Amino acid sequence: MKFFVDTADVDAIAELNELGMVDGVTTNPSLIMKSGRDIREVTKQICDMIDGPVSAETVALESEGMIAEGRELAAIADNIAIKVPLTWDGLKACRVLSGEGRMVNVTLCFSANQALLAAKAGATFISPFIGRLDDLNIDGMDLIGDIRTIYDNYGFETQILAASIRTANHMKEAALIGADVATAPPAVIQAMANHALTDKGLDAFLKDWEKTGQKIL
Ligand code: E4P
Repeated sequence: MKFFVDTADVDAIAELNELGMVDGVTTNPSLIMKSGRDIREVTKQICDMIDGPVSAETVALESEGMIAEGRELAAIADNIAIKVPLTWDGLKACRVLSGEGRMVNVTLCFSANQALLAAKAGATFISPFIGRLDDLNIDGMDLIGDIRTIYDNYGFETQILAASIRTANHMKEAALIGADVATAPPAVIQAMANHALTDKGLDAFLKDWEKTGQKIL
């Protein structure tokens, strides 16, 4: 499973990238707002830092506007994936932009039918939002499983990008179900390394080592 980092925080991206944990980056208007930076400037910096796709989101509501914004965002760098919302207009924009050979990430997906439409429209990525479904007491992972089944049934090449990931457990479940990509905040990726038994075991080893009176260096 590929890891995308869901942030516009360049320092956090750089730290994870050094460990080989970054296959791509996703941003959205809220994350750009949180960064406090200009969208072109920060997106360009991110695109220069990593080899993989960097999603930058359009904000127009009608397809013509999305297409124009998408072309503008794609001009920032070759590795831009244009993010459009899963609306009828978003699907139209997806069709046109993907027809031009551009990567398109169709976002704000909350149903298997929406994902089916996005694949038909030529999306490179479909972004089902796990956490926001969980917030409504709907199991977001069931959606990932349904989309996996549908895409596999018909050989759709659209990649399932599990989004709105909130916990390390979401990462494990997305990987088990077969999501192609998961995008998560840096803290969630770091939390995947945590285990209470690792900490306890390390503590015991260090106490015993101290008793030996030895040194490695
Ligand atoms: C993905 O592309 C979105 O930017 C993101 O995963 C949304 O996550 P949230 O629901 O935690 O805001």
